Amino acid sequence: MKSLLLTLAGTVVLAGLAMAAGDETLARRTCTTCHNFTRVEGKFGEDRATWEARVGRMLAKSGAPKLSDAERKAVIDWLAAQKK
Ligand code: HEC
Repeated sequence: MKSLLLTLAGTVVLAGLAMAAGDETLARRTCTTCHNFTRVEGKFGEDRATWEARVGRMLAKSGAPKLSDAERKAVIDWLAAQKK
């Protein structure tokens, strides 16, 4: 029981870190619904405003996954933090 609680506590801490640094898993999953991730990687290093506009444009396309505001922010945070 104690180890289960420790595991749960560790998961919460890791999830918190992932949110602060953006969410790579969610970004990869979301952005490969329609195309390859190399298309996304080619734009690494661009500024946050550019990513915000681009993510908005991508998620407005038909068939795009529906993200909550928090998820959208986590995806943009991660993308904008990537370097070429
Ligand atoms: C609903 C399908 C769909 C999803 C989901 C999607 N894309 Fe796209 N993406 C496209 C299509 C179609 C094009 C080519 C036409 C265009 O540029 O709008 C494209 C083009 C691009 C391009 C090249 C053009 C440009 O804007 O520079 C980039 C970069 C890109 N997507 C990034 C992303 C990222 C980042 C995500 C995740 C947040 C994402 N895409 C999710 C459909 C999608």
